[in-house]
Amino acid sequence: MPAKLTDQVKKEIEELVKDLNYHSYLYYVLDQPVISDEEYDRRYRRLKDLEEAYGYVLPDSPTLRVGAPPLEKFERVRHTLPMLSLENAFSHEEVIEFDRRVKRLLRTEEDIEYTIEPKYDGLAVEIIYRDGIYQKAATRGDGYLGEDITQNARAIRSVPLKIAGVKAPELVEVRGEIYMHIDEFEKLNREREKAGEPLFANPRNAAAGSVRQLDPSITAKRTLFFTCYGTGAAKGTEFKTQWELINWLKSARLPIPAMVRLARGMDEVIKAIIEIEEKGRTAFPFETDGAVIKVNDFSMRELLGEKTREPRWAIAYKFPAHRAITRVLDIVPSVGRTGVITPIAMLEPVRIGGVTVSRSSLHNWDEIARKDIKIGDTVVVERAGDVIPHVLEVLKEKRTGRERHLPVPSKCPVCGGRVVREEGEVAARCVSLSCPTQVVERIRHFASRGAMDIEGLGEKNLELLYEHNLIKEFPDIYKLKKEDILKLPRFAEKSSQNLIDAIENGKETTLARFLYALGIPHVGEFAARLLARNFRRLEDLYRVSPERINSIRQMGGKISNAVSAFFNDKANLDTLEELKGLGLRISNPDFKAGEKPLPLKGLTFVVTGTLPMPRKEVEEQIEALGGHAAGSVSKNTDYLIAGEEPGSKLQRARELNVKVISYQEFLGLIGKPTLF
Ligand code: IVH
Repeated sequence: MPAKLTDQVKKEIEELVKDLNYHSYLYYVLDQPVISDEEYDRRYRRLKDLEEAYGYVLPDSPTLRVGAPPLEKFERVRHTLPMLSLENAFSHEEVIEFDRRVKRLLRTEEDIEYTIEPKYDGLAVEIIYRDGIYQKAATRGDGYLGEDITQNARAIRSVPLKIAGVKAPELVEVRGEIYMHIDEFEKLNREREKAGEPLFANPRNAAAGSVRQLDPSITAKRTLFFTCYGTGAAKGTEFKTQWELINWLKSARLPIPAMVRLARGMDEVIKAIIEIEEKGRTAFPFETDGAVIKVNDFSMRELLGEKTREPRWAIAYKFPAHRAITRVLDIVPSVGRTGVITPIAMLEPVRIGGVTVSRSSLHNWDEIARKDIKIGDTVVVERAGDVIPHVLEVLKEKRTGRERHLPVPSKCPVCGGRVVREEGEVAARCVSLSCPTQVVERIRHFASRGAMDIEGLGEKNLELLYEHNLIKEFPDIYKLKKEDILKLPRFAEKSSQNLIDAIENGKETTLARFLYALGIPHVGEFAARLLARNFRRLEDLYRVSPERINSIRQMGGKISNAVSAFFNDKANLDTLEELKGLGLRISNPDFKAGEKPLPLKGLTFVVTGTLPMPRKEVEEQIEALGGHAAGSVSKNTDYLIAGEEPGSKLQRARELNVKVISYQEFLGLIGKPTLF
């Protein structure tokens, strides 16, 4: 029984919480502690003792940061507003081009005001505060659905448990990045090396790996930081500019980027970018792979709007790549899920920009021929930001004559099956459907996290199940019996039961995940969700035509053909039916009947002549609104949009009686006369 809470104890607890939170802010956010660690610990212990004795714990008590029980799994969280990504610029020229586009869209010639911030290389998250109290945290995930990391983000000391310093708004979703300092990353890897655990490739993976831990006590052991640069939904607070927003975040004692510059015009912007690059190399304790340039004024942002996944009002400038020289020790062919054989260069390990690189995909044999890469060659390897390292060029002058060329294998290195290179395709492919790697890889993908999410069906176990003839196709997963698993080496009573349970639990899924799981060529998570948004049930996709898929905005021809081919294959449909018969339950929360009006649906346009904006952008707009942008005029063309000096296409349109309209008329058609 807790002791009776007196006013005096209550007051002491409240003061201690406030005091400790303030000192934690001084320490972790401002990096300016005023009391010693020992003094902090002493006050913390006093609070902990009082809380235990009186059973009175405030929602923002620092003692809540640790001690939460491990989770079974991460729940999914739908973001109120999608968390967008950023377009990249790889040169100052591309940044200047971005500014030109902004001005053109805003129809202004005046210099635009931008903010420039370091691009933190971490894990994007959203943290929700209600009435100023820390409520929930979620990863960005795919931008729409993230994972609930409330417990883990709470363990990060620079994340305030309560908004202090300003009047707490009813709701604010703050967005930013969880990241790890470089020295912490190196320390962590040294420890892991000693313990024989796999190393993290870079601080970002280390941060993500630390946050995505079901057991919050592991997260709490790693020192992570948070910085915020934006908001999602908010109620009771409003900003007109990024600058205002950043200043509000700062007064609310939230951690803000290590440097934020306000600049007008491109000269100032470029200066700020260079400054960040310099600081990134010499002063910041974290890795930064670029600078983010954002239009400062929110009403301008409104006008500029966004593309599918990126806003038109911001761009990420990526710093030039890091390079290093090393040797190709070997080239090893590796077989993927679809049978494609990829040559991998095994490199003499070399440090590039804080990361050790020891292998690099050479993509295909055309690439090897083009760059003339041989085993034993000395090569320049490049690693740009988070991009996978690649071999840039061979230093031919270093050749000794002992280098060896690696021909396209005539047989699959895994199953000995036939290898073909189809007309017009660069990839060499093992065509044996029963190639073990392909079978195992296909099923591994099917069972993976973003797909059917069956824990315990990783590569090792799958190989085992495959070798023992227990799994060859998707349906076999659901036919597994506990007795069969028990017979396998490494499996005991409990582990077998766990696997059976995981498989059983995994039967409940969504259409988007299921479509992704099937491993249809070109259908990644994004395309799978797009399909789920447009087709209510799996059966609605049976025998679908490529045209029907193509009519979905953002779906390209390649995907349409692949999806249609998949759902017109009798054997595939049999497999799907068999899966349903085995008890798979597929819901579809993504389906949106008649989702967005697509005013141009079913209409084919051709764009010609000089328009107020690049032809490609007009075409993108047409596709985004459901229309089709074709390259040449035919009798199927509904409209020709003709700019100045239209040339032969206009002639052809007249011959075929195709309607010709101006760009202004086109804007009228889509009901958007103001923006451009
Ligand atoms: S703004 C719509 N600002 O970079 C604007 N993002 O490559 C979206 N990032 O998903 C983000 N530092 O995770 C913004 N100062 C910064 C950033 C930043 C890092 C990340 C963020 C985003 C990714 C895009």
